[in-house]
Amino acid sequence: MTVEQIDTSVAHPARRYNYWLGGKDHFAADRESGDLLAAAFPTARVAARENRDFLRRSVRELTLAGVRQFLDIGTGLPVPNNTHEIAQGLAPSSRVLYADNDPIVMTHARALTVGTDEGRTDYVEADLRDPAAILDSDELRATLDLGRPVALLLVAVLHFIQDDEQAAGVVRELLGALPVGSHLVASNLTLDYAPPEQVAKHEELLAGGRTDARARNRAQFGRFFDGLELLEPGIVAVSDWRPDRPESERPAAADVSIYGAVGRVG
Ligand SMILES: C[S@@+](CC[C@H](N)C(=O)[O-])C[C@H]1O[C@@H](n2cnc3c(N)ncnc32)[C@H](O)[C@@H]1O
Repeated sequence: MTVEQIDTSVAHPARRYNYWLGGKDHFAADRESGDLLAAAFPTARVAARENRDFLRRSVRELTLAGVRQFLDIGTGLPVPNNTHEIAQGLAPSSRVLYADNDPIVMTHARALTVGTDEGRTDYVEADLRDPAAILDSDELRATLDLGRPVALLLVAVLHFIQDDEQAAGVVRELLGALPVGSHLVASNLTLDYAPPEQVAKHEELLAGGRTDARARNRAQFGRFFDGLELLEPGIVAVSDWRPDRPESERPAAADVSIYGAVGRVG
């Protein structure tokens, strides 16, 4: 898709998420959709920030543990603490490949690809539902060595694949290309902590096509980590994954409603 084909009259997850995070890259349709969802789920903005902070902490932890390659699919629009900034800030030789299917993200690729001289950062416009297109891309070949461990980041993107089988298949295919010592970092909307009226509201929005995110319960989310070794603390609300704030300063799991976890390919 070219930039000329960007349809700004239809809400897109990247721009709506950017709106919730307080960014500048969104249009009226994104704000309208963002406000509609935030009216149904008043903590949507808190959830977006907590999810973003989970990404930051997990990339930091993996970099500190020696991981030097990152495949970040569902990149989002550039905001502070993009994956390459965190990883290369700690280990300048880190290599990062981003992939996203929103052409608007592509227009920001320059901001996403200015990395360190020692490392490498690149971007490919691709759809998560077609893992082979990402794995076989020239950009991946030029950026990552699949003979060495890679951290696969699927943060707040799997819920846009609504079919459980398809989502699990995509994760399996991507992990199948990665060697022992690789990791999966993932997060997904959940309604496990939500009161019944919010669950009903979500069902209604989903049925009416007014939200595109599929909430998953613990077992459905856990399936993405089948065969992996879950790192401590396992599957938790993203705000509770290796937090750097005491519990009293963190939002309640119900206000976050996004599961996060990191697993290792053994
Ligand atoms: C909510 S944002 C998450 C951004 C970032 N991963 C984070 O957690 O901060 C979701 C991103 O996934 C992208 N996305 C949604 N569906 C996708 C798909 N099928 N293939 C690739 N990217 C997709 C959107 O364009 C958006 O940039």
